[in-house]
Amino acid sequence: MSGKREQWNSRIGFILATVGSAVGLGNVWRFPTVVVQSGGGAFVALFLLIVVVVGVPLIIAELTLGRAGKQNIVSTFSRLAPNTRWWLVGLFSLVTVFIIISFYSVIAGWAVIYFVGSVMGIFTGLDAAGLTQLNQQLISNPVIPVLGQAVFIFFTVLIVLLGVTGGIERISKIIMPGIVVILLILLGRTLSLEGAVEGVIWFFRPELGLINVNTALDAVGQVFFSFSLGMGAILTYGSYLTDEENIPQSAFLIGVADVGIAILMGLIVIPALFAFNIEPGVGPAIVFVTLPAIFNTLPWPIFWSSLFFLMLSFAAITSAVSLLEVAAAYIVDQRGWTRKAAAITMGVLIFVFGLPAVLSQGVLSNVVFLGRDILDFMDFVSSSFFLPISGLLIVIFLGWVWSTDIALLEIEKGSPGFYWGRAWSFLIRFVMPIAIFYIFITGIRG
Ligand code: PHE
Repeated sequence: MSGKREQWNSRIGFILATVGSAVGLGNVWRFPTVVVQSGGGAFVALFLLIVVVVGVPLIIAELTLGRAGKQNIVSTFSRLAPNTRWWLVGLFSLVTVFIIISFYSVIAGWAVIYFVGSVMGIFTGLDAAGLTQLNQQLISNPVIPVLGQAVFIFFTVLIVLLGVTGGIERISKIIMPGIVVILLILLGRTLSLEGAVEGVIWFFRPELGLINVNTALDAVGQVFFSFSLGMGAILTYGSYLTDEENIPQSAFLIGVADVGIAILMGLIVIPALFAFNIEPGVGPAIVFVTLPAIFNTLPWPIFWSSLFFLMLSFAAITSAVSLLEVAAAYIVDQRGWTRKAAAITMGVLIFVFGLPAVLSQGVLSNVVFLGRDILDFMDFVSSSFFLPISGLLIVIFLGWVWSTDIALLEIEKGSPGFYWGRAWSFLIRFVMPIAIFYIFITGIRG
């Protein structure tokens, strides 16, 4: 990326690309799964709180750092704080990016397989029990999920190779509205199922007794993951911004879009679990069982199912591209490789590193860390630990090293008289470091 730095073509293009990064498996697969595992409404309430106090302010923070630095994740720090070691934070984010994209491609590979399976009609006519069994067979197979993972990585690399702006902006414009339409149809279907109301209540009723530090850790992890925070994706996208961009307003819109889709998804999956009597214990595969079960109650199940999993695969690609872009931009900038060499090499590495995760649902299912299989462990460690740690470091950097006063000047270029400036700066300097640190430390001990 030598020469003149690219900028977004239009405001809507930037917002859609960033929403494309944020909206992905985190909303469709991870959110309902974590809600189920962490006790329903209590988790949802905490999640919303953390969105407001940590999530949106951090989107503002990363976009601002990105626009001020106009560099990749590592050299942003060396440019804003020359002659310090803060660039190590960028390096840490890069490691996190690598772990996340590796396991992300595994789950996204399942979406690809489900797309192909839907077209072939292998899910039609099965009930929830049959679908659970078929899901087990599919994801524990030593070959099929590896193929899905490979296909997914192939397309992600291809898009990064071709450059992000043209292709990704265009795809996002079709995919995002498409997803919303499909989700609304599914929502109508779920809510009309018998027994669905209980699920809706479970989703919204905050059983406060269920809130503990682990729920909080999970909620922080989910916000970071879903908002693409803590690993330089938003920061990198911010580095392509123009000075006129109203950062706080965009951050708000991006947050609302991402949370909206997560909630929509929760309201589709969870009531359906109740209605179909599916054990919430099914774990990571929950979505891959519940949704086909809903499709099977609709006319043209093959059509809906294929369309949905195709959309999901694309939504995952727009997220994975933003991850790969973080690494590619760094390798191209700092190491002087061509974009092509960087993207392909990363693709191969991600594939190899993801293999233990993909096999952890079958042949390697005996390998367990802290009670989690490899896939689950990679997700847990990166989302609940690495992301918050790098988020914490970014906040400390912004609040105390680079200083929020300079940041506010940067923000005000495109948003004169940023009304919430003082509150934002207070959150960044005091509330967030203490909150993230506290949750984090008690979480480790707990
Ligand atoms: N936010 C994406 C999702 O919800 C995942 C992601 C995380 C993408 C971090 C980029 C960076 O699926």
